[in-house]
Amino acid sequence: MTTAIGKITYTTTNVDMEAFHREFDRALGTVRSQFGGFYPLVIGGDRIEVRKNAIVDTSPIDTRTVLATFSAGTAEHVNQAVASAKRAQVAWGRMPWRDRVVIMRRAAALIRERRFALAALMSIEVGKNRMESIGHAEEGADLIDYYADQMEQANGFVRPMHNLTPIEHNTDVQLPYGVFACIAPFNFPLALSAGMSGAALLAGNAVIFKPAEDTCWTGYQLYEIYRDAGVPPGVINFLTGHREDIGDALWQHPGVDGVVFTGSKQVGMRIFHGLSKDYVKPCLMELGGKNATIVMPSADLDAAAEGAMKSAFGLQGQKCSATSRVYVHRAVAGAFLERLVARAEQIVVGDPTERQNWFGPVINARALERYLAVVTEARATGTVLLGGKRLTGPGFDHGYYVAPTIATLPLTSRLFFDEFFLPFLAVGEVDSLEQAVAEANAGEYGLTAGFFSKDPAEVERFLATIEAGVCYINKRSGATTGAWPGSQPFTGWKGSGSSGKGGCGPYYLQQFMREQSRTVIVEPASA
Ligand code: UN1
Repeated sequence: MTTAIGKITYTTTNVDMEAFHREFDRALGTVRSQFGGFYPLVIGGDRIEVRKNAIVDTSPIDTRTVLATFSAGTAEHVNQAVASAKRAQVAWGRMPWRDRVVIMRRAAALIRERRFALAALMSIEVGKNRMESIGHAEEGADLIDYYADQMEQANGFVRPMHNLTPIEHNTDVQLPYGVFACIAPFNFPLALSAGMSGAALLAGNAVIFKPAEDTCWTGYQLYEIYRDAGVPPGVINFLTGHREDIGDALWQHPGVDGVVFTGSKQVGMRIFHGLSKDYVKPCLMELGGKNATIVMPSADLDAAAEGAMKSAFGLQGQKCSATSRVYVHRAVAGAFLERLVARAEQIVVGDPTERQNWFGPVINARALERYLAVVTEARATGTVLLGGKRLTGPGFDHGYYVAPTIATLPLTSRLFFDEFFLPFLAVGEVDSLEQAVAEANAGEYGLTAGFFSKDPAEVERFLATIEAGVCYINKRSGATTGAWPGSQPFTGWKGSGSSGKGGCGPYYLQQFMREQSRTVIVEPASA
């Protein structure tokens, strides 16, 4: 459905909110009317229903709500998917790149057209608030379009090269690898899936797309978008299944030519080490973070508190880009913490599909258990300033609701270094910029980093020394979150990524291709 409501990113403020909420309510109604379906695997265009051991997709808002049931694929389905992808890829890879761009731009347009339906579904399935959901849908569309732009700007990666002699004609081309396994996370089930698979497809690969178990329905919507846009059967395959059945079988399959994965470092490292048995295969990974925000004495403390709060607790802290630790200069620690806690106390918690609620549930029972363990440890080793408990009572009892939590801790605490993917913010006091950066860099991750200071020399020192791929200075709308395609390349350093070239950026797409240099000798016709 087309709408008069303009583009909405994570930082858009000039929206007709009444029109937005009306449209969102309508979309929620439509999604709810579709509850209870059973969805197949789609391999080579064939819809394959596997009812045994099926995946029951429930909402973290209220686990009694069964959204849909998904087929549980097996290793045999992985075999079928790889075979069908291999067959279909040949024509897709040889298709003129401009034709692929047309199809993929159509997919981006369909995401935009369906953005309210997608956003409403993600709000229910993931527990995202309304604005985060709609921004997320837009991000997915923009990712595909941005990579299509890159394809065009590079002329399909066909480039004339220097000719060493008058008779040789040299060209450099980039060609698809073949079949990519695309393994997606729950937290951005549309945007990250579209970004990873979209780049792989634009480059001419076939894709076997496996959504996260918690968010199969959004994954299925993306499959339908590709199908409706004209991505041929077999070029995109939709594979759901239990982690223990297909999680490893997919990337371990010898017919898979490359893997693109977003998820935990632990799983990513296992894939990376296990993938290249016979030869080295591309393994593009974005692996989470433990992102620090640093607050200096000259900072606008209101902006710092606002920015840290938004990035710590947006989507319940379940973003790889989330701020999960703050290093604040001792001189302003008291004043900053007062503002931070005051701002976080105002967070409205509840069913995120409802317009007034900003903070929803965490994704599943495992996340809830992890939260309870983390807050127990925080109480034992530091001071919990806010939150620290599961939320109960009407509206909460059937969902995975926990309180946004802020704790001050000794700098040596492991809570500053381990990634939890939860609404838990660790705060520590430091005496200098150097100490803050040293603490931030001491962790194994290096995805995003935030900095609040009005001193240009300090900003320069921070940028020169911080080990993170995505840096933000004085960003009130989110200290470490909100990267956008074409604006903030999203590159994980150290334990946060594998290739040093991030999604949303100008060097991402070519990682799905391998180079071929072509020298053609044309002898002059003899007289
Ligand atoms: C993630 O953080 O898990 O930068 C993905 C952001 C969004 C989401 C990135 N573009 O916050």
